[in-house]
Amino acid sequence: MEDKKVLFSAIQPSGILTIGNYLGALKNFKKLQNDYNSIFSLADLHTLTVSQDPATLRKNIYELTALYIACGLDPEQSIIFAQSHVSAHTELAWVLNTICYPGELSRMTQFKDKSRKHEDNINMGLMDYPVLMASDILLYQTELVPIGADQKQHLELTRDLAIRFNNKYSETFKIPEPYVAKTGARVMSLQDPTRKMSKSDENINAFISMDDDTDTIIRKFKRAVTDSDNRIIFSSEKPGISNLLTIYSLFANKTIEEAEKEFEGAGYGDFKLKVGEAVASVIEPIRLEKNKLLQNKDYLDEVLANGANKAERLAYKTLAKVYRKIGLVPRKRI
Ligand code: TYM
Repeated sequence: MEDKKVLFSAIQPSGILTIGNYLGALKNFKKLQNDYNSIFSLADLHTLTVSQDPATLRKNIYELTALYIACGLDPEQSIIFAQSHVSAHTELAWVLNTICYPGELSRMTQFKDKSRKHEDNINMGLMDYPVLMASDILLYQTELVPIGADQKQHLELTRDLAIRFNNKYSETFKIPEPYVAKTGARVMSLQDPTRKMSKSDENINAFISMDDDTDTIIRKFKRAVTDSDNRIIFSSEKPGISNLLTIYSLFANKTIEEAEKEFEGAGYGDFKLKVGEAVASVIEPIRLEKNKLLQNKDYLDEVLANGANKAERLAYKTLAKVYRKIGLVPRKRI
């Protein structure tokens, strides 16, 4: 690998992604990938923290692999791999578990939210999820982690665990920094702009999926909740319009100020149509390319296999160091 800093991020293959995942994560992955030794994982083991149908999970893993590539991640240059293919992730998670306290995990916002949502399945994995995420990041001596705002708290914990381990056993892990974009780090629901856009929303009009076609995208934006005042400005009093301006500015590559100017005096109907068109013009080619890539499973398997080979070498270097430092005896090969 070239002498650049390491960037690591991951997404759960737990269903069709939304434009929230795209703006908060994928778009930045592409933007940053050339400036770093970039590693993009599919957090397949993380998905098990909520109940999964095996056949659907398998399909979703290929979907996300294809989507990564369709969004411009380059498997020749960056490492693209499945978390479950490199067992060092679960091994380091076990060690980190021994320096992490239940209180730290039970106060995580996402744990609390998901416990409320999946009352019938509050399993140990759901609580331990941030420790596996810390392991993902720390194994690669990562310096930068591009994420949406909802993952910031998990990154804080990752940093705490790395510092705690380093203090106890001497310098072992790099301390990673989050990369949370100023705009787009928290894309809101189109139906309730006080809530995060989420693919698990029961109202399908609340989110734009990366699989929506142009007509669906435009229809959903037409139905987006706004307000009765008809000015198109960015303001905390206008969460619906502010969310649409954010989405528009990122898809049309304009600043919020430029977007406000462009729509000065325009009606909401017109504005929403333009937002829909801007989003569709980016999403449509990605969706078509992803579907084309999905026709060639052998290629996707090859990408994941090469990625796992490369990731494994890096991960085991760190894991061996960790095992040595905590006092485990290295296995003699005979
Ligand atoms: P996940 O799969 O829930 O989401 C993937 C990425 O999308 C971002 N995101 C959003 N950004 C803006 N607006 C939204 N409405 C929105 N919804 C989601 C998330 O912040 C995330 O960046 N635990 C992680 C996956 C993970 C990971 C890691 C990430 C596992 N190991 C190591 C970084 C480093 C997760 O569940 O993300």
